[in-house]
Amino acid sequence: MSKINVALLGYGTVGKGVYRTIESHQDRLQRLLGKEVKVVAILVRNIDKHIAPDEHVLLTTNYEDILSLPELHIVIDAIVGREPGFSYLKKAIDKGCHVVTANKEMFAFHGTELQALALEKGVGLGYEATVAGGIPIIQTIRQLLSVNHFLGIEAILNGTTNFILTNMRKLGSTFAEALQVAKENGYAESDPTNDIEGYDALYKGMVLSQLIYGGKPNIKSVKRKGITHIQPNHMKIAEEADLRFKHVVTLSKSNNEIQCKVEPVLVPDSHPFYQVEGVQNSVSLATDLLGTLQLQGPGAGMFPTASAILEDIIQLENEHKAPPAAKDSVTDQDALSQWVIFG
Ligand code: HSE
Repeated sequence: MSKINVALLGYGTVGKGVYRTIESHQDRLQRLLGKEVKVVAILVRNIDKHIAPDEHVLLTTNYEDILSLPELHIVIDAIVGREPGFSYLKKAIDKGCHVVTANKEMFAFHGTELQALALEKGVGLGYEATVAGGIPIIQTIRQLLSVNHFLGIEAILNGTTNFILTNMRKLGSTFAEALQVAKENGYAESDPTNDIEGYDALYKGMVLSQLIYGGKPNIKSVKRKGITHIQPNHMKIAEEADLRFKHVVTLSKSNNEIQCKVEPVLVPDSHPFYQVEGVQNSVSLATDLLGTLQLQGPGAGMFPTASAILEDIIQLENEHKAPPAAKDSVTDQDALSQWVIFG
């Protein structure tokens, strides 16, 4: 059976989740793609901090080692920051690889350029994991966009801040304690400033804006506030008034201008976000035909993010599959291939 060779850039929470899920879901992947999916190389920053998960996996700090692999099909970006992620993915696309990214900051700023390059080179580019963790938000919006006009979005897009706010309110944790648990659970960024100051949510809002409105808000005009100034006594007073703090991104467009706000707000118990707790994210999509659709699910963490990345791999492999060669006879395997095999 031929193989799909994958390189992982980064071996933190997301990278490890992807590696383990590819291993644990090998049978399913083979059934869906007709090929074995194999992680053949992992790029890390500090080789002393990592052990290759398998003796056949190349663990390296040098990206050129990965680019020079003779048979490489997919490069997965599980690192943070605009660079070197952007340059790495450009080189991967140039080499003719499909690319999949979970790197929201990089994609918020360079997504359109990468998409144009991927189109030019005829390769696939998946970015489902950049927004709302395991919620298939990109796929859903694409599907809706074929018919609907978007009126606006309200969303909780950062799992760490929602987790902190929930733990402060429910468990009486301090901000620092709740953040520490978010780090231990692999929700927070290595530098959690981006989470707690609202930059991470803003980057995700920018990715959604580009998809929905074909452009991004002017960053200088975006009102961005994090959650660091919310005091425990604010939480208590809000709770007594049946209100909860939620860190919300709102996106809309009027007079050809995209408006975006990222800020903590108080929601009453009648609001759908009131019950969105812990690491959950929630996205409310207002459209002209469908009305409002709300999606909710895990917004961060090892396996929800791996799920989004694997969905991308399956989709772009299927989209770029060579048409099957004409056959004279139908085999038993062909006859069954039209049915989903459960389990
Ligand atoms: N730090 C991010 C969050 C990870 O908490 O939402 C998922 O993008």
